[in-house]
Amino acid sequence: RILILDFGSQYTQLIARRIREAGVYCELRNPEMSEAEIRAFNPRGIILSGGPDSTIGDAAPSAPQCVFELGLPVLGICYGMQTMAQQLGGQVESSAHREFGYARIRARGHSELLREIEDHTTTEGWGMLDVWMSHGDRVASLPEGFKVIASTDSAPIAGMANESRRFYGVQFHPEVTHTTQGQRMIERFLIDICGCETLWTSANIIEDSIAAIREQVGDDEVLLGLSGGVDSSVVAALLHKAIGDQLTCVFVDNGLLRQNEGDQVMAMFAKHMGIRVIRADAEDRFLNALEGIDDPEQKRKIIGNKFVDIFDEEAAKLKNVKWLAQGTIYPDVIESAAAKTGKAHVIKTHHNVGGLPEHMKLKLVEPLRELFKDEVRKLGVELGLPSDMVYRHPFPGPGLGVRILGEVKKEFADLLRKADQIFIAELRKHDLYDKTSQAFAVFLPVKSVGVMGDGRRYDYVVSLRAVETIDFMTARWANLPYDFLDLVSRRIINETAGISRVVYDISGKPPATIEWE
Ligand code: XMP
Repeated sequence: RILILDFGSQYTQLIARRIREAGVYCELRNPEMSEAEIRAFNPRGIILSGGPDSTIGDAAPSAPQCVFELGLPVLGICYGMQTMAQQLGGQVESSAHREFGYARIRARGHSELLREIEDHTTTEGWGMLDVWMSHGDRVASLPEGFKVIASTDSAPIAGMANESRRFYGVQFHPEVTHTTQGQRMIERFLIDICGCETLWTSANIIEDSIAAIREQVGDDEVLLGLSGGVDSSVVAALLHKAIGDQLTCVFVDNGLLRQNEGDQVMAMFAKHMGIRVIRADAEDRFLNALEGIDDPEQKRKIIGNKFVDIFDEEAAKLKNVKWLAQGTIYPDVIESAAAKTGKAHVIKTHHNVGGLPEHMKLKLVEPLRELFKDEVRKLGVELGLPSDMVYRHPFPGPGLGVRILGEVKKEFADLLRKADQIFIAELRKHDLYDKTSQAFAVFLPVKSVGVMGDGRRYDYVVSLRAVETIDFMTARWANLPYDFLDLVSRRIINETAGISRVVYDISGKPPATIEWE
């Protein structure tokens, strides 16, 4: 296993994902970790991440000095290289040439880290690498025992190594895909330099999780809130495999789900997989609670609270449950750890089940706590969940409640479900679903005039929304073909009595958000 000390770069999670992709387990930790904690973690190697700080500043964070005294390989990336240089007696200065983005660097082929890794060859014993740079400061003089292994005009020391101690530093970011040989460099460090074995595979993760779950819960019964989303679905499949009938799921149908979604969840989990799922049909209770409410945040609150109420009621009917399973994944864990240390940049409120009745006193089982989303998806497929379910676009907790602008009514939800289903089905049919990150229809409670046959229509409007994004923090509207939009629009208007106009949303995020509310 590899330890990554996180100095707060926006790319740190990417480092972890690249390492996991290479088949090696790793964790992200705070650089304030103590020597005892590092020893207990027992890593094969340590990576120091990039970060927004300057090592020149007074309050600059550094790595625990013991990192350089444990005899372990260390790789410093960007800020991590700079702090390594400074802590070992080299010097860092701020550079007149800040470098951001693509760069071509010269790399020494005789370094263990970069040996035989290059994009282009030169004659003088250097290889050329296409890399992604993002830095202001640079290393100005090497610590003792180090040599230069990579270089650019504005950063003569863009890479450094002390081969005998197995310390490496690179100013560029091997973890981003723009560094074309990045994954090879990371694998070189993990496998050849640290001697890690590539055992972190879906099959092994499942096997280990099953053993861990059995050990944790013993013969006790476990309760899971199943939403039909990827995370809770994978938890259901995994727990079922581990403990079979000791698992009971509660599925709350709030009337704000997509077309046939409730039936699909029941068919897949209850019928097909033989999991015990209690379905709470609560459409009326949700819609009654939402009557007359048009403020989006208030709608979110009402939906969230009602969900907890109904889940609690169902849970209270079960007598012997001792554990509550949750689909917490690693980014949630990292975010809440970052929130505690005050280093978080963005915090999303998660729709976790919060307020179980006091007397139930359930303990938590969270089998996906160590996994990234892409790992969860692979696990889902390995566990036999259909891949079109596992690779589905995200769907917000409040569901159609935030896709019907203003007051939510059953009539509106029914119209929206039909339009949305047509849009999604056509996206899939035209091979466009996987090319967009999230797509859906939005119901606009305004009427516009139309004409159909000889008759006048005065009906509602639906907007189609489709975006491309990596992290959902920023997004571009998807450039769907006009012919495709034309087809979807015609189908929706012809097949959905009550909708007479379809528009396409061409707003980016920022300034617009992905959802309309
Ligand atoms: P926005 O609209 O903020 O959406 O650009 C970013 C991503 O978050 C999802 N989203 C939510 N998910 N509860 C959720 O579980 C919510 O209240 C919520 N609001 C937005 C949205 O679908 C998109 O993927």
